[in-house]
Amino acid sequence: MKPSFGLGTLLLDLLLGTALASQKVMSGGRRDPLDADFEKLAVKTLEQWHVPGLAIAVVDGDDTWAAGYGNASIGSTPVTPSTLFYSGSTTKAFTAAVLSLLVESDAHPGVTWRTPISQLIRDDFVLQPEYAWAQEHLTIEDALTHRTGFPRHDKSLPARSGPDAHVTAVRDITRSLRDLPMVLEPRTRWKYCNLMFMVLSHAIQTLTRRWLGDVMREWIWEPLGMRSTYFSLDAALEAPEDLARGYYWEYKDQEGGYKEVPWLKLQEASGAGAVVSNVLDYAKWIRCLVNEAAPLSKEGHKAIRTPRMVPSAEGKGLDGPSSYALGWHTNTYKGHRMYTHSGGMEAYGADVFFFPDLKYGIVAMGNTAITSNFAGRLLTWKLINDRLAIPESERYDWSSQFEKALNSSLEQFDKAIDKLYPGRANPALPRGLELKEYTGTYSHPAYHDLTIDLGDDPGRLRAVRVDFVWSMTFDFVHVSGEYWVIHIDMKNSPNALNRQSAKAEFKIGPNGKCDQVLIEFLEDGSEGVIPFTRVTKTT
Ligand SMILES: *[C@@H]1O[C@H](CO)[C@@H](O)[C@H](O)[C@H]1NC(C)=O
Ligand SMILES: *[C@@H]1O[C@H](CO)[C@@H](O)[C@H](O)[C@H]1NC(C)=O
Repeated sequence: MKPSFGLGTLLLDLLLGTALASQKVMSGGRRDPLDADFEKLAVKTLEQWHVPGLAIAVVDGDDTWAAGYGNASIGSTPVTPSTLFYSGSTTKAFTAAVLSLLVESDAHPGVTWRTPISQLIRDDFVLQPEYAWAQEHLTIEDALTHRTGFPRHDKSLPARSGPDAHVTAVRDITRSLRDLPMVLEPRTRWKYCNLMFMVLSHAIQTLTRRWLGDVMREWIWEPLGMRSTYFSLDAALEAPEDLARGYYWEYKDQEGGYKEVPWLKLQEASGAGAVVSNVLDYAKWIRCLVNEAAPLSKEGHKAIRTPRMVPSAEGKGLDGPSSYALGWHTNTYKGHRMYTHSGGMEAYGADVFFFPDLKYGIVAMGNTAITSNFAGRLLTWKLINDRLAIPESERYDWSSQFEKALNSSLEQFDKAIDKLYPGRANPALPRGLELKEYTGTYSHPAYHDLTIDLGDDPGRLRAVRVDFVWSMTFDFVHVSGEYWVIHIDMKNSPNALNRQSAKAEFKIGPNGKCDQVLIEFLEDGSEGVIPFTRVTKTT
């Protein structure tokens, strides 16, 4: 028996214009996990983590519940279960699903999980000569499991526009690999890499001669009845559903406040993170996953669930270390097999969990970066623990974990020098040149232009990069000699949680001019050293 009046009720409410009063969808015989007590907790959690709005759906056997809390647009629109959010990297599971259909398709004989990428897009998938083996051998499976050896290089991605951007963006990103350092040997370690999902997008679009958004819609979303799922900002804005605005919380002083973040275009994110959807549609996706249902085959479900890499030896709050399957992390929790993936955009966070043995799953979507993942996961874990009847004393303290992460983000810039240059000269050596002699445009073939100006604060330099997928500000703070720390903020969402620091070293040539700056972007050095060479004359 499957009473399905829940969705009907919501639609009716919408038609009658009363949806705002009732934001909950219910069905089935189990107790409503999103009851009044849970709502109180949700509202409190949003307040604590400074998240304007969040939606949650719970799938349990034949039942689905969904609710919205807080604001989709502050001051005007509440979140309902149909509110659209960017769902970020939870897109990766759809890319893996599309590929599961593609490797089984008669239209593409010979394409398997182990097909080398270069076989599909030979002219575009070209790596530096020292990575010739990787160029010939890296497979679809390697890209889907973050084991190609390539690090993120997210900051290299230039923004594209124009009618062909959905084709040219992922093609050009693929072509930029020939100028990017790989850093690790292939298949030796797990290293999260969005670029490789963009490469896969280009491969899928080349093979099918279709836009990946259309392929996902026709192959997966339409068969599942996911009619509120989109693959571009334009489509999401034209949709009948309301697209949540994105926000960040300014953690200045003790006061703080919400700031709105402009909507990002998604043509570059493509198969790595372009999906915009709502929790009702994701509930349908979860249902497909837990039931191993069509449109994926049984083999397809098995393939995307099969663990292939071990991201780290840690398994905080879970039974042991997690593994990575195809677009999914997997582990067990209290003995139950679990799959999960989070998604984060500049001003959105999404998390999906599913437990195949329990036919149980949850999705949460919110409209801030990172803190909506924290709030969503706190609420999700509460629901999971209640569902499994885990005693309070045996529940992991996610809240302190997230508080620690927030605290360390807030201290990011203050601690950067000590972290990045523990053995620096004391007292610091002076820099070799006048400050203005460091200014000018420097360039790297894949990371593009970096125009350094004098900073607002005395003694600092500053670069603002706007024509990139991630617009960022780089504030250079002098450390010693030619060594600097860069404080990196998202330009449109300078949220403490998005902050990063990097090491920079200016190179002064024999002519006494500064002709290069070497930047090591990620603190653990895992993106390699990117040399930007001066392209403008020194003044
Ligand atoms: C939602 O907006 C209303 C009115 O602007 C405000 O009172 C309320 O605190 C907001 N809720 C959240 C969770 O931000
Ligand atoms: C985070 O910082 C606040 C304020 O300094 C402090 O009260 C709290 O104990 C810290 N939390 C953790 C988990 O370190």
